[in-house]
Amino acid sequence: MQYKLSDFGKRFAGKIGIAELMDDLGSALSADPAPLMLGGGNPAHIPEVQEIIRQRMVGILDQPGEFERLIGNYDTPQGSAPFLDALTNMFNREYGWGISPENIALTNGSQNAFLSLFNLFAGRFEGSQRKQIMLPLTPEYIGYTEVGMETDFFQSRKPHIEHLDNSFFKYRIDFDTLSIGNEVGALCLSRPTNPTGNVVTDEEVERLRTLTRSAGVPLILDNAYGAPFPNIIQTEITPVWDENIVLCLSLSKFGLPTLRTGIVIARKEIIRLVSRMTSVFSLAPGSLGPALALELVRSGDIMQVSREVIKTHYGKKSQQAVDQLQAELDGLPYAIHKPEGALFLWLWLKNLPITTEELYHRLKAKGVLIVPGHYFFPGLNEPWKHKDECIRVTFAQDDEVVSRGLSIIAEEIRSLH
Ligand SMILES: Cc1ncc(COP(=O)(O)O)c(C=O)c1O
Repeated sequence: MQYKLSDFGKRFAGKIGIAELMDDLGSALSADPAPLMLGGGNPAHIPEVQEIIRQRMVGILDQPGEFERLIGNYDTPQGSAPFLDALTNMFNREYGWGISPENIALTNGSQNAFLSLFNLFAGRFEGSQRKQIMLPLTPEYIGYTEVGMETDFFQSRKPHIEHLDNSFFKYRIDFDTLSIGNEVGALCLSRPTNPTGNVVTDEEVERLRTLTRSAGVPLILDNAYGAPFPNIIQTEITPVWDENIVLCLSLSKFGLPTLRTGIVIARKEIIRLVSRMTSVFSLAPGSLGPALALELVRSGDIMQVSREVIKTHYGKKSQQAVDQLQAELDGLPYAIHKPEGALFLWLWLKNLPITTEELYHRLKAKGVLIVPGHYFFPGLNEPWKHKDECIRVTFAQDDEVVSRGLSIIAEEIRSLH
């Protein structure tokens, strides 16, 4: 590079996990022959959902002037007003949250919302004070890692590991080590969790709500896979929101990842700030996602489709993947995180003689992509062997791809023991 880079710029010249992952994903999905893509977070193509969206697109194209308006006019930085109204009505009708459209902002994907939110609550503060985002439970979403404009942006906690029957385990928040000091600006948690498929229980969320409320900091809940849409949750949970919660949703895992539509529900002051940040970063959120999802939200059908089609689809795929791994890894030292939601299985390969980073390279050479576990501990800087013993495997691709990929993974693990 012939130009000098700022400190901020230099960070992007280094290794960026999410960039590598998205590159791997993009090239895998367009390569010929395609590798077996068990690595990325691309949602499945579910024909029933795609047909509904196609019909809505046809409806827009058939209405004189509607398509032209859609592609030709910026929305406000807060996002499409009819969509905000429809979301407001749906959440009030279903959960009685008593929100108004001023409690919601759209962003260009929820990834963008985290950029805005994290930098609102952490970084440099008046009087040279610094604050951090606390991740109360790692492993946690890789996409948070480089979002902070400042370095040393996170403080993260190791989980308590609960061992369950049938080679399952579950991470739980270790409340014994969780105290929210003055240096914490907000807590964030993905639920269901990427990469583990964990669904932090209602009781754990309640405890976090109490702790954040008394510390006077917001609790950011990343609901990219959660209820009421796309509802990729196989356990029973109660969606919650109040003025101390910042709830982030997305249309991506409903099946519209390329339309980059994120939804933030928060107290009005926060929504005003997020909207202003959107105006600076990108003028306005895209309009196509809101337009294609509008009727689904107005009618509430988005909830029914999520529950009956999307949740069922992933529930079946998750079970198939677990059954296959349990059969093919039988007798080896391994455990699977209890699959409660999202698109992933999180495998703990105990006593593996190599790191999972090395396993990733070996599998890549055999045409299978996975993600090594160490990427998913943003802010957990202390050495911990467990970080190098886990992998994330996506089961969203076609059955044949997933099944062949899992067999190659299992074979490789067996050959290493
Ligand atoms: C937990 C989690 N949060 C947020 C996102 C960002 O999604 P998007 O920007 O497509 O809304 C993802 C994407 O994979 C995710 O897994």
